[in-house]
Amino acid sequence: MPFSDYKTALVTGASSGIGAAVVERLRRENIEVHAIARSAGPLQELAARTGCIAHAIDVTDRKAIAALAAETEFDILVNNAGVDRPKKFLEADEGDIDLLVDVNLRAVLHICRLVVPGMVARDRGHVVNISSIAGNYNFGGNSTYHAVKAGVAMLSNQLRIDAFGKRVRVTEICPGRVATDIFNHVHGDDPSVRERFIDGFELPQASDIAEAIAFAIAAPVAVNIGHMEITPTLQVMGGLQTAKPQAAPGASEGPKR
Ligand SMILES: NC(=O)c1ccc[n+]([C@@H]2O[C@H](COP(=O)([O-])OP(=O)(O)OC[C@H]3O[C@@H](n4cnc5c(N)ncnc54)[C@H](OP(=O)(O)O)[C@@H]3O)[C@@H](O)[C@H]2O)c1
Repeated sequence: MPFSDYKTALVTGASSGIGAAVVERLRRENIEVHAIARSAGPLQELAARTGCIAHAIDVTDRKAIAALAAETEFDILVNNAGVDRPKKFLEADEGDIDLLVDVNLRAVLHICRLVVPGMVARDRGHVVNISSIAGNYNFGGNSTYHAVKAGVAMLSNQLRIDAFGKRVRVTEICPGRVATDIFNHVHGDDPSVRERFIDGFELPQASDIAEAIAFAIAAPVAVNIGHMEITPTLQVMGGLQTAKPQAAPGASEGPKR
């Protein structure tokens, strides 16, 4: 359905990066946008700049989300809020696993539970789930993030099946590296973080991802753009590693077959 058929949107993770860019883009189409994040200050600035409605809440706050979903019939839902705590799984931290499951997957499931049935009942809606190339490819050191983003990818496929027969579209956006502050949010504010992830690279900007989302939403109602993988031109995924067995300490030779 083109933008003119939609009136309201809910965007999570709107205080920075991709979420803020999506809010700006949807506001340009005169959509009433409800923007969620925990940081009240940046959200208020976004509201002043774009006219969105700011909600300083945590996506894991089920009561607050339920209240919002009961108040407004959302035509567009952008599940974007996300965090990462990269670490080899062999050194995984208990709290990091819970955080990634709670924010990147559990909250997405509950928000869909609260919003998508209304879309189905009204025969009108568009769900945009921001997963990651991490949901489809392996690159090590991010196992929990890979697992929860793969969950979002599969949820996106299943939502289409469960809403089948109604004009509810589901688009999964799989970004590769995008020039946002996520790397500082993950690794801290040291200038070396920007050097490692952003400076000197040619990267998609948050606004490029927002334009791709706008393209999917603006497509005719007969068109569901299901999956968009958006990477830097100068980034590829894939690789193959093969190791020889290593002898255990004290053993004279490697494992026997
Ligand atoms: N940038 C990339 O390279 C990249 C690549 C692949 C996928 N992605 C995905 O794209 C999405 C957006 O990332 P980004 O790059 O824009 O990162 P970002 O700048 O760090 O933005 C993340 C957003 O999520 C919000 N958020 C985090 N925890 C939240 C919570 N518990 N409740 C509500 N909001 C919460 C943050 O706001 P508050 O801290 O104010 O709550 C912030 O607005 C994420 O899902 C990320 O996994 C990004």
